[in-house]
Amino acid sequence: PAEDEARIDEIKRLLELHNAVLVAHYYTDDAIQQLAEETGGCVADSLEMARFGARHEADTLVVAGVRFMGETAKILSPEKRVLMPTLEATCSLDIGCPVDEFSAFCDQHPDRTVVVYANTSAAVKARADWVVTSSIAVDVIEHLQARGEKILWAPDKHLGGYIQQKTGADMLLWDGACIVHEEFKAKGIEDLKGVYPDAAVLVHPESPASVVALADVAGSTSQLIKAAKELPNDKLIVATDRGIFFKMQQMVPEKTLFEAPTAGNGATCRSCAHCPWMAMNALDNLAGALREGSGEIFVDAELRQKALTPLERMLNFQR
Ligand code: 13P
Ligand code: SF4
Repeated sequence: PAEDEARIDEIKRLLELHNAVLVAHYYTDDAIQQLAEETGGCVADSLEMARFGARHEADTLVVAGVRFMGETAKILSPEKRVLMPTLEATCSLDIGCPVDEFSAFCDQHPDRTVVVYANTSAAVKARADWVVTSSIAVDVIEHLQARGEKILWAPDKHLGGYIQQKTGADMLLWDGACIVHEEFKAKGIEDLKGVYPDAAVLVHPESPASVVALADVAGSTSQLIKAAKELPNDKLIVATDRGIFFKMQQMVPEKTLFEAPTAGNGATCRSCAHCPWMAMNALDNLAGALREGSGEIFVDAELRQKALTPLERMLNFQR
């Protein structure tokens, strides 16, 4: 539509004017992902977003995603201005892990190394020994396990359970979940496999164990896109937020992609497999943030210093 075109032109002009770069997650709107690509920004998983923002020389980072991604960018680049289309975009994992309760939990288990998922507040990160994203969580836990460390993991119990099962590490799990991935149902995927037996199943490990058990490949958003390319199958059933289809289909135009069903009867619920907070990012509020400097992320200096250590461990971690 013409209004979108006008917004896109405005955003491009404002990005240049402010020496700003757009860093977008794969779950944001197609138009935002495309704009990030066209303007020299990045479309990526949460680890790559953090790396890209930290290395880029822009004065302003515009982070299209959810709150923890903006906070991570600010913690890693305090000298940059970090803007988000809206500060309301949170995450059920972040909400489900309030710092006071989490801190008390850590205090009860002083013998455990505290590893938190990136989908947490700056305050929770500040209490952690390590931050990880889904793309390196297994590798980091394997590394800690080899050193004989016992783990306290938060907040995603499904991802935590998956890592525990894969590595055999001693992990105490916080009881949190992603409201989007938790909706995928094994029964629906099995039924779809019945119709398309040659289809491969790609699953984000924030999904329940019964769903991950059906996966040909389980991994972060970037890892799933890579797998879509590398697998020989020409049909793929994908259990993650449907925002990923924009990039994935670009990478494999010749393949047929199916959304994994979110209901046991095999029907696809179109509103389920899309994160309501990611969906708050739009061209309008993105333009508004750049125009007005609204949606700026601030992180308390002391908190920032504490959260930086576990985040840097993640960025410096080599397999
Ligand atoms: P990744 O992009 O790191 O796989 O994380 C998914 C996610 O939870 C973003 O909301
Ligand atoms: Fe959080 Fe799930 Fe939304 Fe990702 S998709 S931001 S984990 S609620």
